[in-house]
Amino acid sequence: MLRISVLRLLGRPGTSGVSLLEYSSPRHYSSGPLGARDDARGARAFFTTPIFYVNAAPHIGHLYSALLADALCRHRRLRVPSTAATRFSTGTDEHGLKIQQAATAAGLAPTELCDRVSAQFQQLFREAGISSTDFIRTTEARHRIAVQHFWGLLKARGLLYKGLYEGWYCASEECFLPEAKVTRQSGSSGDSCPVSLESGHPVSWTKEENYIFRLSQFREPLQRWLRGDPQAITPEPFHRAVLEWLEEELPDLSVSRKSSHLHWGIPVPGDDSQTIYVWLDALVNYLTVIGYPNAEFKSWWPSTSHIIGKDILKFHAIYWPALLLGAGMSPPHRIYVHSHWTVCGQKMSKSLGNVVDPRTCLDRYTVDGFRYFLLRQGVPNWDCDYYDEKVVKLLDSELADALGGLLNRCTAKRINPSGTYPVFCTTCFPSEPGLVGPSVRAQAEDYALVNAVATLPRQVADHYDNFQIYKALEAVSSCVRQTNGFVQRHAPWKLNWESPVDAPWLGTVLHVALECLRVFGTLLQPVTPNLADKLLSRLGVSATERGLGKLCFLPRFCGHPCPFEGRRLGPETGLLFPRLDQSRAWLVKAHRT
Ligand code: MSP
Repeated sequence: MLRISVLRLLGRPGTSGVSLLEYSSPRHYSSGPLGARDDARGARAFFTTPIFYVNAAPHIGHLYSALLADALCRHRRLRVPSTAATRFSTGTDEHGLKIQQAATAAGLAPTELCDRVSAQFQQLFREAGISSTDFIRTTEARHRIAVQHFWGLLKARGLLYKGLYEGWYCASEECFLPEAKVTRQSGSSGDSCPVSLESGHPVSWTKEENYIFRLSQFREPLQRWLRGDPQAITPEPFHRAVLEWLEEELPDLSVSRKSSHLHWGIPVPGDDSQTIYVWLDALVNYLTVIGYPNAEFKSWWPSTSHIIGKDILKFHAIYWPALLLGAGMSPPHRIYVHSHWTVCGQKMSKSLGNVVDPRTCLDRYTVDGFRYFLLRQGVPNWDCDYYDEKVVKLLDSELADALGGLLNRCTAKRINPSGTYPVFCTTCFPSEPGLVGPSVRAQAEDYALVNAVATLPRQVADHYDNFQIYKALEAVSSCVRQTNGFVQRHAPWKLNWESPVDAPWLGTVLHVALECLRVFGTLLQPVTPNLADKLLSRLGVSATERGLGKLCFLPRFCGHPCPFEGRRLGPETGLLFPRLDQSRAWLVKAHRT
């Protein structure tokens, strides 16, 4: 019941434009506080992806979960560069009935299936540039120790009791379902089978003696936690949905299964006849990776941000915090929730044969191209639809034409023959708008551009904090368009370096455009790390000048020295991002012959 309401809650969005701020005083131009604010918090940050089931190969939805976490984590590293300040875990969820059944169906031992599919996830994440610091498999010994210790704490605190549990169980979702969420569907042989109303997956009636967790005791503590921290679950509609669920009945939760039925899991300590419920097992992975039960885990908990899909919200926002509170720990700092990818309007599924293979996409669109697409088009609040033409159109227009074209226009030999970062002329572009004089060349729109780019790092950071990475990219893209407009307006190709009248203004136009590009390159690092590296290297920005703490846009405009002025640009290494439509035509041809 919890799943259905959140899936319904979130309809389709309208387009959300990012309004650029009006001109404000140049004194406001500084991105210094970005880093400083986080440093002052001094906190460590621990990001997690869900751990992925190994019953089937990874698809683009899984990659999306991991990319969102990766981008958040990379953005945080740009704010607080110390490697000791940020940790990022991912991994595979290898126990439970679902995996046990998948292994049987594939004629494999469960360990074989787990090794095979876990390796596929690890390879995909390596190829996609997921910068995780930890990879956990729930079949590891360190994890069994952590889960059994956690269980022992719940037991010692009187939160587990033995009782008869009866109900429908859906192995595919690894959860119990109430009668109202089960329907009948006719099977291939004409007989009627009980299935989950929402997912259509088969369910089976289960009646056994299990260990039960006193979940019902936690309704009020959970409500207090969520009401006291309105951003605990972000975006807000998911926070609201969880509070609404907490108004409904909250029955105790069965947290073990008979081992005769489920042998593929972690045994209940002191009672081998029972296996620990796979969700309890899986959730504890977040503690295992940070060293639990050794005290070292306390330096990372609870400053933890979980990135999850909406289908597993109930497990993370109700069961997990209740289990943590039960074990005497705090709930996680943040739960960031995203929606799903559909394909040509349909849910992705093996039976429909429409599963999109992420490795093919990375090959076809490049790592940076596909990362950009998923994060630019994926809106956490709503489901998004995937189709190939959309990827080509977006990447051609935003990365190849707008961004690549801008870089090319400002660095090409014929326009920038000295291959340097030219000098900014304060007389041509005075810091006060509206001044008139023979050398003043800047126009009102140019001040609007400077203001938009100056405030961009803060806007982007706010979007990251609100888990709206697509809005951060939308804001960058909008500024790229504005910068192209600036270059177009002043047509530097019509100005002459030899003319004493043109030269200072020509240098200024290029200087401003290169400064804008430096900001875009810096801000794109979390999403397109290789492309951003290429861009920043071309601008001559060194590795130590790429953080957000010291990103100071257009310092000459405010009368400060600019460390880049006069610097040689980096070597020319070809197009920043080649257009895809041509290579796709080639692909199609190659396919036909
Ligand atoms: N094993 C559990 C998670 C345990 S975490 C303690 C699980 N695994 S999963 O492989 O089914 O899903 C992992 C993640 O992939 C979830 O965040 C889920 O929402 C996400 N996605 C699965 N299909 C998806 C789409 N079609 N689109 C976007 N993300 C989707 O649940």
